[in-house]
Amino acid sequence: MLRVRPYRSSDAAAIQTWIRDEREHALWCANLIDYPPSVDALDRKRMALDAEGYGTMFTALNAADIPVGFFAVMRLETRINNAHLGFIIVDPAMRGKGIGRRMVQLAAGYCFHLLGADSITLKVYDQNEAARKCYKAAGFVDVAHNDKSLMFGKEKWGTWDMIITRKRSKRFLSL
Ligand SMILES: CC(C)(COP(=O)(O)OP(=O)(O)OC[C@H]1O[C@@H](n2cnc3c(N)ncnc32)[C@H](O)[C@@H]1OP(=O)(O)O)[C@@H](O)C(=O)NCCC(=O)NCCS
Repeated sequence: MLRVRPYRSSDAAAIQTWIRDEREHALWCANLIDYPPSVDALDRKRMALDAEGYGTMFTALNAADIPVGFFAVMRLETRINNAHLGFIIVDPAMRGKGIGRRMVQLAAGYCFHLLGADSITLKVYDQNEAARKCYKAAGFVDVAHNDKSLMFGKEKWGTWDMIITRKRSKRFLSL
């Protein structure tokens, strides 16, 4: 059982323990959230997303109401009816159990069924194999690659843009 509700500041205490170092932080959020992701850093990001209009942060809870995951709808581009997801993370102690895939499916359900989006995109670094596999398992496909999008120390990270359309989602989202 996985439930999703809007993020609350009290969730930050758990979320900030899920990021164990600066590299993991950069892989997670492309440094679009200040490091470490404190309650203030997450509140600043929530205010910035609020200003986008449709930007919203969500927390996923297990059956005991304990936070086990987090993600954000970053924006809805109404001109092309595309929603963009970001900041997807699962508690390290809970990874590899299908929570990430289920959470992304629930996020997609919100975008398709409540926001009325026709497609959903996200970005993921080449180096993030777990995330790439998770998004593929949820039905996302590659749409474009950017060879150099972030320098982390001496590492050059490329980015995949991935997408799922409303039509394709019908095969993947058992809501
Ligand atoms: C990416 C992330 C959310 C995946 O969450 P998760 O709960 O572990 O993923 P799931 O258990 O649902 O796995 C989904 C699929 O990915 C695969 N997968 C997950 N972790 C993997 C790993 N480390 N290596 C290889 N495959 C992996 C699973 O085998 C599964 O594939 P399957 O459905 O074909 O069996 C999690 O690893 C995470 O929080 N990473 C740190 C934050 C981050 O980098 N977020 C991504 C930002 S773009």
